[in-house]
Amino acid sequence: MNYFIMNESDVKEIAKLYMDYYNKNEDGCWKYEKAFKRIHQMVTIEDSLCLIQKDDECNTTGFVIGYFKEYDDISVYYLEEIVIFAGYQNKGYGKQLLNEIEKRVLEYGAEHIELTSVNDEHHMHFYEGFGMYAATNLKIMGKHYE
Ligand SMILES: CC(C)(COP(=O)(O)OP(=O)(O)OC[C@H]1O[C@@H](n2cnc3c(N)ncnc32)[C@H](O)[C@@H]1OP(=O)(O)O)[C@@H](O)C(=O)NCCC(=O)NCCS
Repeated sequence: MNYFIMNESDVKEIAKLYMDYYNKNEDGCWKYEKAFKRIHQMVTIEDSLCLIQKDDECNTTGFVIGYFKEYDDISVYYLEEIVIFAGYQNKGYGKQLLNEIEKRVLEYGAEHIELTSVNDEHHMHFYEGFGMYAATNLKIMGKHYE
């Protein structure tokens, strides 16, 4: 697989693929403008690291968006989202993309990767297979308004 740093000129294409993927496959209701903003924010944030994965025929198979965060004693890569597009899933591409991001995170000098996952068996298996574990010292808190 081939990897490219995602930059602003890629956002239109990735936002369209992202919107189509979720709306067609996961009952999403993305509008293009929102999808564009989501990807664009991650690409332009300070210390962003976003990668596009392409196969040897130059098909875009997936992407990862995230950025480095600083704490007093540690630098962390926050993986905001990884997506392998329909038709390319379950072929090991997601695993390869995580391995590529890990390589670059270590080169950067960060000591930790964190993310918020969908809490189901599929995602747990995917991330645990990469060596991740569910944090026990933190909880995601939210407050929802109708
Ligand atoms: C989650 C996702 C990135 C995984 O990518 P992928 O390329 O399909 O995963 P891989 O082929 O690399 O699989 C890695 C492991 O996960 C397992 N896996 C992948 N899809 C699975 C599924 N639907 N159900 C159960 N296990 C699954 C594979 O069997 C493999 O396990 P193994 O190493 O024990 O064989 C992909 O399914 C995806 O993009 N989903 C939609 C977006 C999403 O949910 N992103 C994550 C948001 S938290």
